[in-house]
Amino acid sequence: MSGGEGDGTVVRRDRFSGGPARSFLSSMDDDDRIFAADLAVDRAHVVMLAEQGVVSEDDAAAILGALADVEAAGFDALPDGEDVHEAVETAVVERVGRVGGKMHTARSRNDEVATCIRVRLREDLLGALESVLAFREALADVAGAEAETVMPGFTHLQPAQPTTVAHWALSYEGALARDAGRLLDAYDRANRSPLGAAAFAGTTFDVDRERTADLLGFDGVVTNAMDASASRDFLLEAVAALASVAVTVSGLAEDVVFFANRGFVALDDDYASTSSIMPQKKNPDTLELVRSTAGDALGAYQGLATTLKGLPRAYNRDLQNATGHAWTAVDAVTEAVDVAAGAVATADWPAEALEAAAGEGFSTATGVADALAAAGLPFREAHEIVALAAERGADLDAVDAAAREATGEQLADLADPAVVAAALDPVESVAQRDSAGGPAPSAVGDALEGVRAGLEDDEAAVAEREAALAEARDALAAEVASYD
Ligand code: ARG
Repeated sequence: MSGGEGDGTVVRRDRFSGGPARSFLSSMDDDDRIFAADLAVDRAHVVMLAEQGVVSEDDAAAILGALADVEAAGFDALPDGEDVHEAVETAVVERVGRVGGKMHTARSRNDEVATCIRVRLREDLLGALESVLAFREALADVAGAEAETVMPGFTHLQPAQPTTVAHWALSYEGALARDAGRLLDAYDRANRSPLGAAAFAGTTFDVDRERTADLLGFDGVVTNAMDASASRDFLLEAVAALASVAVTVSGLAEDVVFFANRGFVALDDDYASTSSIMPQKKNPDTLELVRSTAGDALGAYQGLATTLKGLPRAYNRDLQNATGHAWTAVDAVTEAVDVAAGAVATADWPAEALEAAAGEGFSTATGVADALAAAGLPFREAHEIVALAAERGADLDAVDAAAREATGEQLADLADPAVVAAALDPVESVAQRDSAGGPAPSAVGDALEGVRAGLEDDEAAVAEREAALAEARDALAAEVASYD
């Protein structure tokens, strides 16, 4: 071990690390989140430096040994530092003396922190993806179980046409499938290594950037060193994808709150609260909080984009404050998705009440107009007859009276009254709308097959990325162990 205890004091750095702005400058309070990432980045960097002959194998072994010790001691045992990168380096130097100072050869905290954020974000995005996929599974299960459960469908929150609980559930599954695609895209663009960019201008040392990228499980490098150290669009993209998830889920939450109000859904007690004063109340609070999460995510997007906007090249300390917005978004959205999924998976759909409500407000009117048009009437005239029928009681007699008034002919001369009667029935009305993507149980059954296949693909895509990270983790551990 070269260097003695106390040899490692970094004098020049100390010159700038005191003063009243010390805690303002520090990111230590937030850096717990990237402690493990920092250790991985340090290890990959040191292994590469040794392989390139930039540091000796013995020095690398000493540093790697110290890093194991620092890891075992934990984040809370780190010495004081402006950030986790500095504190870990200090902790290494405290353990092995001056040689520890070689760890920072051929890099800067600028490429280091950019790499650490990406390493951590990858995990968080995969976590968010798992939650979104589990929610999609839950929605697909609801669709499988409630394909025949007819319910009112709304536009402008007015009763519009009967649909089914399954059709409603799959409408959100589809949106969440696109959100999952956005998260995967964000993952793939984040999964590039900035390491080796140094401060922004590269390094004179013969570094192998592809090697550190590989050791850390990245798909490749961010080539331009200035871009690598300064860009945070990968955060913006991730937060945008998360915000899209939050917006999707906020709509679902609002639906469920409204359904609960109308008695269309019964939430499990675990997902409801009561009132501290009104003992009869069962409130859908969990869904209200889920609905509010769009505020966190969109706030994070705004905060992040505003922080990044107009930043000059290359590294600026503003970037330190950018990162937290991404953590806020990923934590809030992932938790909200889990809760919403649990609420939906455990909810009860009261079929009788839903079917009774499904016919309210003459919601079958469009289907009746379709039936008249299918019998040969121009749709516009059919629409008029049905509008008149709506004022006359919205049953078969009303349609007949409306037909006489509008055309001078009785209903039976215009269409088969039995077909019109079927169209007036919410259950029949749903069954007849069997066009692709429609609510008819047959159409939902077909759609569900595609949904299950899409889910399988996305699950495989997430598993593949998780496996690649696990493989890289093992490979890095094996490299490190070879220095023992
Ligand atoms: N903690 C900093 C961050 O999160 C990295 C430090 C780079 N500092 C610097 N003065 N160049 O961005």
